[in-house]
Amino acid sequence: MKKNVIIEKQSAVTNNKVPLLFQPISIRGVELPNRVVVAPMCQYHSDDGEPTDWQIMHLGRLAAGGAGLVFGEETAVERRGRKTYACAGLYKKKHVKAYLRLTNLIREQGAVPAIQLGHAGRKASCHTATESWRPLIDQDSQTGYPPWQGLAPSALNQLPRHFLPKEMDRDDIKTVIEAFRVATHRSLDAGYDVIEIHGAHGYLIHQFLSPVSNHRKDSYGGDLAGRMRFALEVAEVVRSACPDRPVFYRISAVDGEGGIWSLPDSISLSQELKSRHIDLIDVSSGGISGGSTMPPVPRIPGYQVGFCERIKRDADVMTIAVGGITKAQQAEDILRASKADLIALARELLWNADWPVHAAHELGIKDPFFMIPNEYAFRLRQREEQKTIPINQGGDKTNAAMRFLLGDNHSSNLIKLKNT
Ligand SMILES: Cc1cc2nc3c(=O)[nH]c(=O)nc-3n(C[C@H](O)[C@H](O)[C@H](O)COP(=O)(O)O)c2cc1C
Repeated sequence: MKKNVIIEKQSAVTNNKVPLLFQPISIRGVELPNRVVVAPMCQYHSDDGEPTDWQIMHLGRLAAGGAGLVFGEETAVERRGRKTYACAGLYKKKHVKAYLRLTNLIREQGAVPAIQLGHAGRKASCHTATESWRPLIDQDSQTGYPPWQGLAPSALNQLPRHFLPKEMDRDDIKTVIEAFRVATHRSLDAGYDVIEIHGAHGYLIHQFLSPVSNHRKDSYGGDLAGRMRFALEVAEVVRSACPDRPVFYRISAVDGEGGIWSLPDSISLSQELKSRHIDLIDVSSGGISGGSTMPPVPRIPGYQVGFCERIKRDADVMTIAVGGITKAQQAEDILRASKADLIALARELLWNADWPVHAAHELGIKDPFFMIPNEYAFRLRQREEQKTIPINQGGDKTNAAMRFLLGDNHSSNLIKLKNT
């Protein structure tokens, strides 16, 4: 089943007229059947780190919609590196089996499974997204969810939390980097073909990068090279634990409102990551705020594409564009203009999980159904074929049949479907 789906996908996209969005691409030996990516999306449905039936439904549904690469949510490399008690994690060996179920399911739909590894740092210890990430407090202990102390480059909180984060000493840094190494091995054991390091959105790696959150005086702070050191050491350890498969790196191109980390910093970081054989930069933004004059990134359509284009050009590295990409032609234009190599979507896929197959149809692919499971494709092709049969096209034949079947009830309701 799996093989057939992939072969069918590939044979349908060998001709040059196929939109770039639906042409396959190979990255470090992993073949993506098209360039649509399901962006990482935290679900807050895990049980002590382990995915549940919710993720089976969520990722299975998205994989069935036709995307080439399907990311699971940010997955914590340490238990204390989760944001909430419901966050995903790979901090126990026993987690591997549950993720294997997910990767098998995604692969069976002809998509490539990808994982995003991360650490919340000082953003740990809160409630879930639907509760606006409200920090855990003492009273939460009564319901079994006591607050815990996060880690950070410096003991500074972005928002008031129960504990100030612990300023990481050298042992803490070593421990977290080792946790990235172990989680990388577990990700490969769990069947992931692509690993992404989450260095964005104000989480631990971003906390080291930005001068807003990193006030260290040692070699992990200070100038740009010092603040990048932790991010690069994580890159090195993940790369060496995963030599044969793609490693992506998600960054915040700019800090966002009140921040300091800027696009030129991100270009420097991307060059350093490229020199450490990171395959692709996934360009997001924001997540850390402070007291500078940097404005928030305006939420216009394709709001991060400009950053993505600059990083791709100036660091000469493959990129993913993400953020406010909702239209098929918009995605195709970004690729055609060489602003990105892959296109990721998040919220638009929550609205329409079948966006990829609809986009293929809109961009003129004659038989887009090759992208979805045969059980659906068969019925949808059959529906298209039915439209071509004269008796189904309105006009005399249709009306004669309807009159025969419905008698007088039909006479006031003649059907003129043809050419409408
Ligand atoms: C439900 C949800 C959960 C998200 N969780 C993550 C996450 O785990 N890791 C991450 O890097 N970004 C996360 N994001 C951000 C998305 O990956 C994406 O970058 C962002 O939503 C912008 O893309 P969009 O305009 O297509 O939604 C999440 C977004 C949503 C909507």
